[in-house]
Amino acid sequence: MRRYILLTVLILIFSFLLISCGGSDNEDSPRLSGSFNPPQLTESTKHYGGQAWESAECFNCHPLSNLDDAHSYNSNLADSFSKVSENDTGVCLYCHGNNGLKNLTAEDYQCELCHENEQIVSSANMFNGVLNHDLNADGFLSNIDCLICHKRSDMNGTVDFSIDFTQSDSDYTNVSDFCLTCHDANGAFEILPPALQFNNDAKNILDTYLGMGTTETEKKSTADVHGAADGVPMSFGTFRGDYDFNMQISCLSCHEVHTSDNKFLIAEDGSNAYLTDSTAKSADIMVFNNNFSEFCALCHTNDNGSIAGNGLKEVVHDSPVSTNCTECHYHGAGYDNGSRQNMF
Ligand code: HEC
Ligand code: HEC
Ligand code: HEC
Ligand code: HEC
Ligand code: HEC
Ligand code: HEC
Ligand code: HEC
Ligand code: HEC
Repeated sequence: MRRYILLTVLILIFSFLLISCGGSDNEDSPRLSGSFNPPQLTESTKHYGGQAWESAECFNCHPLSNLDDAHSYNSNLADSFSKVSENDTGVCLYCHGNNGLKNLTAEDYQCELCHENEQIVSSANMFNGVLNHDLNADGFLSNIDCLICHKRSDMNGTVDFSIDFTQSDSDYTNVSDFCLTCHDANGAFEILPPALQFNNDAKNILDTYLGMGTTETEKKSTADVHGAADGVPMSFGTFRGDYDFNMQISCLSCHEVHTSDNKFLIAEDGSNAYLTDSTAKSADIMVFNNNFSEFCALCHTNDNGSIAGNGLKEVVHDSPVSTNCTECHYHGAGYDNGSRQNMF
């Protein structure tokens, strides 16, 4: 009897393995292989022998039911096609080439149609902020801006630095690298971010974050402690969660990237301050004028601190200071001509 049970179990395991292997017949899909090669409609004679060339009516010949399989690498993506109208096929061309249609612009790709609608993409609330990362300076975050950063997203449901962002000569190893491609003010992607407001020594975030000069020692001594500078234990504060001295903080632990209600695109809550505790992670953040108390309290605290507006205890300075924090704390304040140290 026992032998039969064992046999049954083995058969079950074996068939399970078979099913799992069978399930990987889409192993070319972006999620599995990291490659992303959607077929391109670039030759007039090839798309249905030319009959489909220059057509934008994709759904006429490719009914939704036929698109699920091809896009099964992310069922959310396949589902999203069924939630837009049959005229809204612009995004097909973002991935599949222009099919001979001339003068397509970013507006035709309709990124916002899905991404600002919570019924279609669940992350839509990240576009609700008042202030935008408005790259082309037209006053809002528009489809054109999306394309400057996301030239060829595979929309597989996972952010991947080497796929979802515009490519420079080499892949980005982390998101801060990507930010610094522009915020070194070298005109990458033909975009120039504004100069720093508070710093006289450095012109850009690259210099304040990774430091200036040529040698490693020079760089470290001119960088901020939130960036590459070697940190020291805090003077009067303590860290929340697993934050500690000698760390480099990701841009996105402090900033939103798309929109924010806070100036300088400061984070709207603590959810991206990965190493802090759960109380701080769920705290909302408001910045008033240049008072960043609620924000700094995500990671810096003190037992004797007063309670900031978001319920987190702030640090207590050893002497009273202005609530205009940027008098002393800003990108580059860690160096500031060598006269101050460890201020940012
Ligand atoms: C008039 C019908 C028709 C229209 C309209 C049409 N297609 Fe097609 N498409 C086909 C047929 C039939 C095939 C398969 C035979 C072939 O590859 O030519 C195909 C193939 C494809 C392929 C696979 C190509 C390959 O090389 O494997 C893609 C991708 C595609 N279509 C996307 C689109 C998109 C995007 C649109 C809208 C911009 C569109 N089609 C409009 C009929 C059409
Ligand atoms: C985010 C990118 C992306 C978008 C948007 C997208 N596709 Fe695709 N599509 C792909 C990829 C990747 C494949 C190839 C999948 C594979 O090889 O497993 C594909 C394959 C196809 C195929 C070929 C199917 C086959 O059997 O060869 C058709 C047809 C197609 N897509 C039509 C469309 C239409 C119509 C739209 C718009 C509603 C669309 N796609 C939007 C990425 C995309
Ligand atoms: C300044 C560059 C930039 C611009 C402009 C931009 N993005 Fe992003 N986007 C990013 C970065 C960086 C991330 C990764 C965020 C992260 O890892 O937390 C991201 C992530 C995303 C995500 C994934 C979010 C998630 O948490 O799942 C979506 C969706 C997205 N962007 C869509 C868009 C759309 C749509 C637009 C235009 C309306 C746009 N982005 C404009 C840089 C940008
Ligand atoms: C038809 C709806 C639709 C349109 C239009 C659309 N997207 Fe998406 N996008 C999605 C869905 C669905 C996801 C996956 C969300 C998920 O699984 O959480 C996604 C994911 C993303 C992501 C997150 C990274 C990833 O790999 O998942 C980025 C970035 C993105 N889209 C950029 C764009 C850009 C840029 C445009 C315009 C060119 C655009 N999208 C247009 C539906 C759409
Ligand atoms: C394509 C170039 C580009 C990339 C990539 C980029 N930025 Fe920007 N950034 C800009 C431009 C241009 C502005 C000015 C936008 C405006 O005035 O609305 C800006 C503005 C900002 C601001 C607000 C400055 C202020 O004075 O209010 C912050 C903060 C910021 N970026 C952080 C980031 C972070 C963090 C990343 C990476 C996730 C990033 N940027 C990626 C070009 C870029
Ligand atoms: C996401 C977490 C995080 C946030 C938010 C944050 N910090 Fe920090 N801060 C750190 C970490 C971690 C260090 C230690 C870095 C090191 O030593 O390399 C640090 C170091 C410092 C130091 C140096 C301390 C010393 O005595 O050497 C100062 C000053 C400082 N932060 C000020 C601020 C101010 C002001 C704000 C708000 C505007 C702020 N920080 C927001 C994590 C954070
Ligand atoms: C007059 C200058 C000045 C102003 C204004 C100021 N600080 Fe500080 N802050 C300091 C000094 C000095 C330190 C100690 C730096 C060090 O450890 O080397 C410090 C440290 C900090 C630290 C890190 C804790 C630590 O022990 O190092 C935080 C967090 C902080 N300040 C937040 C704020 C906030 C929030 C504001 C605005 C409400 C503010 N500061 C305004 C001078 C100032
Ligand atoms: C510890 C939190 C923190 C980190 C990490 C951080 N920032 Fe900031 N950032 C701030 C604060 C606070 C301000 C407002 C004070 C200022 O302007 O320096 C700011 C301001 C900015 C500004 C506007 C500067 C100005 O003066 O006009 C830009 C652009 C910016 N950050 C980009 C970045 C980029 C890119 C990174 C990653 C390389 C980054 N930040 C990392 C907290 C942070």
